[in-house]
Amino acid sequence: MSRYLCLDDFEAAAKSRLPHPLFTYISSAAETSSSLRDNRDVFGKWGFVPRVLRGVSGRSISCDLLGKTYDAPFGIAPMGISALMAYDGDHALTRAAASHNIPMVLSGSSLTPMEAVHEANPDSWFQAYLPGEDDKILALVDRVKRTGFKTLVLTVDTAVLANRENNLRAGFSTPLRLTPKTLWQFATHPRWVLGTFARTLMTKGMPHFENSYATRGAPIMARNVMRDFGRKDHLNWDHLRLIRDHWQGKLIVKGVLAAADVREVAKVGCDAVVLSNHGGRQLDGAVSPMRVLPNAVSVAGNMPVMVDGGFRRGTDILKALALGAAFVFVGRPFLYAAVVDGERGVSQAVEILKSELHRDLGLLGKTTLSEIEADILMTH
Ligand code: FNR
Repeated sequence: MSRYLCLDDFEAAAKSRLPHPLFTYISSAAETSSSLRDNRDVFGKWGFVPRVLRGVSGRSISCDLLGKTYDAPFGIAPMGISALMAYDGDHALTRAAASHNIPMVLSGSSLTPMEAVHEANPDSWFQAYLPGEDDKILALVDRVKRTGFKTLVLTVDTAVLANRENNLRAGFSTPLRLTPKTLWQFATHPRWVLGTFARTLMTKGMPHFENSYATRGAPIMARNVMRDFGRKDHLNWDHLRLIRDHWQGKLIVKGVLAAADVREVAKVGCDAVVLSNHGGRQLDGAVSPMRVLPNAVSVAGNMPVMVDGGFRRGTDILKALALGAAFVFVGRPFLYAAVVDGERGVSQAVEILKSELHRDLGLLGKTTLSEIEADILMTH
């Protein structure tokens, strides 16, 4: 029997493998972590009212989204610096996604060049953090286009850097600082030091932020790494319109919560929106996207509304679909799975979530996801 029976099992295993500052970088959130908690607690708001004796053989969890059919209604959310956590982490994530026919979103603050990830999985999506200046924005969009990506996700909930005091307390920062505390953590986690860090240095060299601009960014240990990300607190809807004019592929805006903003995203002509509080990592106290989902769906018109934050079970995903979500993204558990067993670990995690969905669909008395509607839920 596998040690991993549900997504949370990967977290405990990753915790023992990673030096504490790195585990904290993945697991933690901004300030008091209240959004992080709300992302999990919110699912308790609804219970299911299943139907019985409906003949549920031949069930399918496949899902149509933006002109494509995926094998499941969930994908892998963008996560920065994954290749520092797991050896070749972005490739592990994207290859597992390709083998399961689900989308993987490569982070704009990843350490693997977008060209290499696109080559490994041409169906992967690219997530951009917008540089501050128009010419840099357009150069980045051109690079994404040249590489061959068809779907661009713009993350817009990072106008200013969040207060990640929990990271600092744990000894994690960018640039990475080597202090006696972090060195001790590295010394006591040889599996990460040898299996991930040393192996990365030997096979790929010092990790760089590869995808922030048209060219390579700063190495993760460099002093100027934050300066390199530039000032972006002036970004506004005109920048989104600029990108819409220059990007003919699918354009998705991630990090929206207010219904008024969902309406605006639709007005600009974007193809979809991802409701998200960034996994609780930006504005502490921002509500769980599940709380605003019904309102967002009601103003979005034909634009698909996707959602992320705290999804760990098939039942969580079914609740979102019942409230009108078109698709769900999952972050941390897949990165933990990459930490513990690379592509094989991620594949196993995807398989677990798929089989939960398959089972839960039957238990609800349904055979396809299109039958999932609000009447399966009751508010507690
Ligand atoms: C993130 N997230 C994120 N989002 C984004 O748009 N670009 C990024 O580079 C990152 N980086 C990142 C790193 C790590 C370690 C985590 C955990 C998260 C946010 C991510 O895409 C997603 O919104 C949340 O992680 C979803 O919540 P769960 O599933 O992790 O609870």
